[in-house]
Amino acid sequence: MAGGDSKNTWIIANWKSNMTIAEALEWVSKVGSEIPKIDNIKVVVCPTFSALSEVKKAIQIGNYPLLVGAQNISPFGVGAYTGEENAQTLSQFIDLAIIGHSERRENFKETDEMITNKVNQVVENKITPLVCVQNSETPIPENCKIVAYEPIFAIGTGNPDTPGNADKIADVLKERYGQNLAVIYGGSVDSGNVKGFVAQENIAGVLVGKASLDADEFIKIIAACDKI
Ligand code: PGA
Repeated sequence: MAGGDSKNTWIIANWKSNMTIAEALEWVSKVGSEIPKIDNIKVVVCPTFSALSEVKKAIQIGNYPLLVGAQNISPFGVGAYTGEENAQTLSQFIDLAIIGHSERRENFKETDEMITNKVNQVVENKITPLVCVQNSETPIPENCKIVAYEPIFAIGTGNPDTPGNADKIADVLKERYGQNLAVIYGGSVDSGNVKGFVAQENIAGVLVGKASLDADEFIKIIAACDKI
């Protein structure tokens, strides 16, 4: 499913550095059975690397319409890169990879060049790259068909951008990079505000951090998007 598609609604859980394997499996069985089997709703869970294999197995056994993503990926291929998780190996578990999250740009000094290399690695391995952009000026690498607009002030603060402003930024990005670019919004999304974002003309879904950790809250987020 490399590529992306502007007609889908993406609801993506970014667990960040949270969840034990047991907690992850409980979440998958709770959320998995509540996802509507509708083609244009794409629900993706992005666990820690250590939980990927177990999460993937649980989804297959439960036959849940739940895709799996990584929160990061190596800018290199297979080989002597100690500590890295490469796209070829991860492609057995994941459909999508979050690339260039602002927490990685800030804490791990990721550069636009590294981000471009990561996008190239995942596309070569038929994984969908989801690049996070912090504003309308963040460069988007070629071959990236889905981006998440995530303003830094909104991440983990309980202070989301307004749906109207997020829509404007999405519009600017689509004007610049093409109408086929899918733009989703991230930053303090929860079940109370998600509808406002996904109802916008230019917003194709949401990337959810903190509110995705609670299975019941995430189920409510999915239900709110389902009714748009
Ligand atoms: P948040 O995180 O929902 O906790 O603000 C979103 C993100 O960083 O992807």
